[in-house]
Amino acid sequence: MSETKKVVRVEKYNGVTTVFLNRPEKRNAMSPALHEQMDQTLLELEGDPDTKIVIIRGEGGNFSAGQDLKEFFRGLEDNPAEAKRMQEIANRWRWERLYNYDKPTISMVEGYCVGGAFMQLLATDFAIAADTAQFSLSEVNWGILPGALVAKVVVDNVLFRHALYYSCLGDAFDGKEAARVGFINYSVPAEKLEDEVAKLADKLMKKSPAVLRATKQAVRQVRTMDFNQAYDYLHAKNMAIRVNDPEESYRTGLSQFIDKKSYKPVQGPFTLGTLLTDQTAK
Ligand code: COA
Repeated sequence: MSETKKVVRVEKYNGVTTVFLNRPEKRNAMSPALHEQMDQTLLELEGDPDTKIVIIRGEGGNFSAGQDLKEFFRGLEDNPAEAKRMQEIANRWRWERLYNYDKPTISMVEGYCVGGAFMQLLATDFAIAADTAQFSLSEVNWGILPGALVAKVVVDNVLFRHALYYSCLGDAFDGKEAARVGFINYSVPAEKLEDEVAKLADKLMKKSPAVLRATKQAVRQVRTMDFNQAYDYLHAKNMAIRVNDPEESYRTGLSQFIDKKSYKPVQGPFTLGTLLTDQTAK
């Protein structure tokens, strides 16, 4: 590691853990040390009982200026073995780890979100940005492609025309445009960003973790299935959560709606921890 200081910072509060890319003086450009620390941090948090939701953001008002052009690109040019090792780590946390993460993840975007940072942006389950955030697929402007998986995940997430336009132009666009074309869920005025992200985290915290996990996995998996596979997979997954959900959400939810009339699923989930003790209820 060329850099030994902590370039990832973690804050925990009431089940919500915020992971900061912590190189504000470099606009949170991702160095080899940052990739290693992010990979390790996310691995640890996935198994951390105090972490129910993970928010990813940048320290100092920027999400991330993408790969560190000096340390990640030029710095590894003469060391192909280390370059390969670092690419694997960088790709692993930004894609495989986050895409398959057991817990809900939210990208909170303010300031710049550039190039390689689109990987974690699009791997997280949700993304909210400040209206004033600045997104750019800048690769075309300095002679490379939107590499690793950037071009692939961009074209998988937004309409083809938008993917081609922003990849080929590299033009910066703001949070409202990012929401309009589907890079993020929505944007809000910068001063409301933290509150909006906290509200979303709070809503997610109120749902059964097992059902939420199965739902996000299912939505991701069916994207690439045909109809018959999806019927079968969704049926099997539904059966699996009935026996793997400590909240017994299915049985409890039905009983609280039909028998007790104590909540309406369209208006929100039943209160966690109120699972049926009445074993006769079906
Ligand atoms: N890699 C390495 N260093 C970077 C960086 C990157 N991707 N982005 C910013 N930095 C560094 C700058 O070199 C500068 O370092 P210095 O203080 O040692 O000179 C510092 O961060 C601040 O950057 P600066 O350009 O002065 O800030 P700014 O707020 O005026 O502009 C950006 C911010 C993001 C618009 C601009 O830095 C930029 O275009 N960066 C390149 C982004 C990019 O193309 N990334 C794609 C990588 S896949």
